[in-house]
Amino acid sequence: MKQVQDYIRTIVDFPHEGILFRDVTTLFADPRGFRMAIDQLLHPYAGVRFDKVVGLEARGFILGGAIAHQLSAGFVPIRKKGKLPGAVISEEYKLEYGEAVVEIHDDAIQPGEKILLVDDLLATGGTAEAGIKLVERLGGEIIGCAFIVDLPDLGGHKRLKDMGMEVHTLCT
Ligand code: PRP
Ligand code: ADE
Repeated sequence: MKQVQDYIRTIVDFPHEGILFRDVTTLFADPRGFRMAIDQLLHPYAGVRFDKVVGLEARGFILGGAIAHQLSAGFVPIRKKGKLPGAVISEEYKLEYGEAVVEIHDDAIQPGEKILLVDDLLATGGTAEAGIKLVERLGGEIIGCAFIVDLPDLGGHKRLKDMGMEVHTLCT
């Protein structure tokens, strides 16, 4: 039977020379693959109550919406700078290829709310760490961080573990 990683394709030299881009759009486009990914991302959290799922732009929105629906939780986007219309708080971070700023609406999470953070891929962990900081600055309690792809050589998994996070990934 096909596994989640079998649906993911690799694009060489995107967006820059030397990057092997793990493209999950082929997983999302496949009805069996997408359902398998959502079911497996949810698996460790059976019986756990979450108030909100926080998704990281952009592919974390696709996963986060489906997961939030399944958990009967709310969905909160973390977006790149300048995209959210309301009052925001911001965090700067470094990427595998570049630098960026992410933002969250400052009223999107209430203190003590239980949060699941989701994205498609964990590389250096810079994006996820910035997202974790935003959620924690608003008083949210992150119960888990879930990703489809883990690139452990880039250090993100260890980085989040060292922050005390529970990290769930489907393939490396
Ligand atoms: C990718 C991926 C993660 C991030 C992981 O997004 O979807 O969000 O990189 O890298 P990191 O662990 O080194 O931070 P990207 O920055 O390409 O943005 P996009 O989703 O808006 O295309
Ligand atoms: N984000 C950071 N590194 C990536 C990679 N190799 N593939 C897809 N998204 C990424």
